[in-house]
Amino acid sequence: MSNPFSYAGKRVVVTGAATGVGAALLDLLAEIGAPEVTVLDLKAPTGPHAKYIATNLSERGAVDAAVAEIDGPVDVLFNNAGVAATQAPQIVLAVNYLALRALSEKLLGQIPAGGAIVNTASIAGGRWPEHLTQINELIDIGDWDKSLEWIDSNLEAVGGDSYSFSKEVVRVWGMRHSHATIAKGVRTNSVCPAPIDTPLLNDFNETMGQKVMEWTVTQATGKIMTPREVAMPLAFLGSEAASYVNGTDLIADGGFNAAMTTGQIDFSGLS
Ligand SMILES: NC(=O)c1ccc[n+]([C@@H]2O[C@H](COP(=O)([O-])OP(=O)(O)OC[C@H]3O[C@@H](n4cnc5c(N)ncnc54)[C@H](O)[C@@H]3O)[C@@H](O)[C@H]2O)c1
Repeated sequence: MSNPFSYAGKRVVVTGAATGVGAALLDLLAEIGAPEVTVLDLKAPTGPHAKYIATNLSERGAVDAAVAEIDGPVDVLFNNAGVAATQAPQIVLAVNYLALRALSEKLLGQIPAGGAIVNTASIAGGRWPEHLTQINELIDIGDWDKSLEWIDSNLEAVGGDSYSFSKEVVRVWGMRHSHATIAKGVRTNSVCPAPIDTPLLNDFNETMGQKVMEWTVTQATGKIMTPREVAMPLAFLGSEAASYVNGTDLIADGGFNAAMTTGQIDFSGLS
């Protein structure tokens, strides 16, 4: 019987694989047999890969050019690249949501039945139910430039934090897209990690405050999540082992949200 977790024979595309989670994912994919991995990133990856397409995912034209360079079937698309609110809101929305959406929509025709789209979202996007009306309004716009105009005039109304909002949008867009993709036999899911020990954590320490980041880790397991601990659930969602999992957010946060939902979080460390 074949191993349902194996990537043998699967052609994979990963965005944001020069450092952090994406770099750990390249190592893991090599271990579990992926024969051909294409990376889209600003920076060249050092981990195992077959093809690197230098791409600035904040630019619509660069995303289109990268799509044109991806030939043949793509069994699994990992939309993993992300930037923090240390960058301008338009860049955050473009990299974290618009590029992810454009790649997912434009490559869908190349993803065969049984294939999957897996997005790296975040527990930072957990407040999406509060902003669902605005998120759907933005998703309905669709067009890249008009979406960027929308964010300029609506960011304050959705909390003012471009990073958290972008991850809220990714989570809702993923749910919406999953219904369309499953009609083709393609699944769409996301992983929502807690703070991870990657270069991006420095940016979050700057934008959200080191105290909040450390408090979140302390309230979960007390140990910061490793990039590999995010790569593993990402790989699971892209594998045959998750063949009936569609339209879901896999919360990989060491139990932080579970403790929050059941009133077991100690907020005193925040004051
Ligand atoms: N680090 C955390 O605490 C944390 C927590 C939750 C979710 N996440 C998410 O995990 C994902 C991976 O982030 P990470 O923590 O590994 O960070 P990272 O900074 O190590 O990796 C991000 C990758 O994206 C690439 N990238 C950045 N801007 C780009 C652009 N404009 N075009 C192309 N590539 C670009 C970088 O070169 C890098 O390889 C992101 O989506 C992030 O939002 C991170």
